[in-house]
Amino acid sequence: MLDARSRRPSPAPHTGRAGCRLAAALAAAAVATAAHAADPPPAREAELVRLVRQDCGSCHGMTLRGGLGPPLTPQALADRPEAMLAATIIHGRPGTAMPPWRPFVTEAEADWIASRLKRGLGDDGR
Ligand code: HEC
Repeated sequence: MLDARSRRPSPAPHTGRAGCRLAAALAAAAVATAAHAADPPPAREAELVRLVRQDCGSCHGMTLRGGLGPPLTPQALADRPEAMLAATIIHGRPGTAMPPWRPFVTEAEADWIASRLKRGLGDDGR
């Protein structure tokens, strides 16, 4: 009797445990975010780098040296304030082909992308 009961699948407690794990993961992420305010978690960083190379690269050039959009190399952006770059990423440039990325990245992530562009994100590291 006891055996049969313990073998019966019990979805409710399972869901509960998954919810707990999710909550724990979110809490851990929140702690990580608090520790490095500007840095997304590593997996998200990898996604953002892919986004910049592929989606941004479709206009700014695969090595970010310019295409339809201007180059996004550290040299080209040297005199651009990081906050201005982040605002351009979030809001786009109305009246130009530069679209707003607000639906896809948070403001903190846009800050991070801007700082990565200043340091170099092209395929050749420039
Ligand atoms: C559909 C084409 C297109 C896509 C996709 C695109 N951009 Fe742009 N971007 C432009 C154009 C065109 C400009 C120049 C706007 C202007 O004339 O001021 C620009 C300007 C910028 C600037 C300002 C550069 C400067 O010198 O002031 C930044 C930063 C930028 N884009 C970042 C990005 C990032 C990051 C992405 C991807 C998340 C991206 N762009 C995707 C077309 C695009």
